[in-house]
Amino acid sequence: MLMKTLLVELGDRSYPIYIGSGLLNQVELYTQHIKSSQVIVITNSTIAPLYLDQVLNNLRNFKVETLILPDGEQFKTLDYVTQIFDKLLSCKFSRNATLIALGGGVIGDMGGFSAACYQRGIPFLQIPTTLLAQVDSSVGGKTGVNHALGKNMIGAFYQPQCVIADADVLNTLNDRQLSAGLAEVIKYGLIRDIEFFEWLEQNIELLLARDKEALAFAIERSCLNKAQIVAEDETETGIRATLNLGHTFGHAIETGAGYGVYLHGEAVAIGTCQAADLSRRKGWLTDADVERIIALFKKANLPVNPPEQLDSDSFLDLMAVDKKNIDGKIRLILLTKIGVATLPIGIDTLLLEQTLNSYGR
Ligand code: NAD
Ligand code: GLY
Repeated sequence: MLMKTLLVELGDRSYPIYIGSGLLNQVELYTQHIKSSQVIVITNSTIAPLYLDQVLNNLRNFKVETLILPDGEQFKTLDYVTQIFDKLLSCKFSRNATLIALGGGVIGDMGGFSAACYQRGIPFLQIPTTLLAQVDSSVGGKTGVNHALGKNMIGAFYQPQCVIADADVLNTLNDRQLSAGLAEVIKYGLIRDIEFFEWLEQNIELLLARDKEALAFAIERSCLNKAQIVAEDETETGIRATLNLGHTFGHAIETGAGYGVYLHGEAVAIGTCQAADLSRRKGWLTDADVERIIALFKKANLPVNPPEQLDSDSFLDLMAVDKKNIDGKIRLILLTKIGVATLPIGIDTLLLEQTLNSYGR
């Protein structure tokens, strides 16, 4: 596979997304973005035995430290970010040191947030190792951690120097994780790219079978959509919020069930079906549209119904903690048709309760 390079255009903070095969071993991809002798690689206990040595091989000319964190969404907390700060400080890392985040969205979000805060900001590189991280979380500079009362509630916008997305690393991802990544891939089709949505309907089996060409196309098309959105609205004052389709429901599911019970992509899949149901109640989607959306998530082996233990009151309580809310009022992204999303809109509580009480119940 040839390497493709996309650019996230943000003026003097623009950066490339490298997508391809065998990229983990391409020394120059790293070295051209490292302007210091001190480098720290942050990863977790699952990824380290698989890929850490390959990454370290490229960094022989640097003074490299590594920090291996425990694996799991439940460890995406300020406590573990503090461990990163402890390591950086005890190794006397300076302000020009470079942080490399090697992992899925959890490591990428925590590594990025640590880089944003350490000495008010040090450069960092994203090496995403899950499909979800390659198509979404490593691009666009949203970094942060969870709080017991709300998902991703503590964070910063902070862009990386580059993103190195090596599709080969997806070979070791389990099927459940691969499907979770597909939830965010499907999202791009739903919010702004009907042609891609139709392609996904035709090719989802190839993606599940890890066909290299199909995966490369899906990663590139997703990153292209994301890069365009981020270039237009880096700090989410408008269109970037559409990337949160289904996420307010999804975050409530993740927080309500306990971090780590549902994978992020699984919760997003369920939440997107709930958002589709609500869009139908608004009169925008037809029954057939909603069935088509649910069918694609099901074909991708994703859950589509909310957990039984979360009743509508619990949902409403959890959804009241969301970054899109204004004056404590819930605002959601809905679909006016497949391929077109709204900006965040206030929702009539009765209508929202109808979805919460009936969809998937
Ligand atoms: P994750 O980081 O927990 O990774 C999923 C699992 O796969 C973990 O167990 C991990 O150790 C393992 N893994 C990673 N790469 C592997 C590989 N190549 N082979 C084998 N196992 C591997 O989860 P995720 O789905 O990548 O990311 C979810 C997180 O991303 C959530 O915290 C979510 O909030 C965040 N997110 C952030 C953004 C953003 O814009 N910053 C966007 C979407 C999601
Ligand atoms: N994943 C949502 C965003 O980057 O805005």
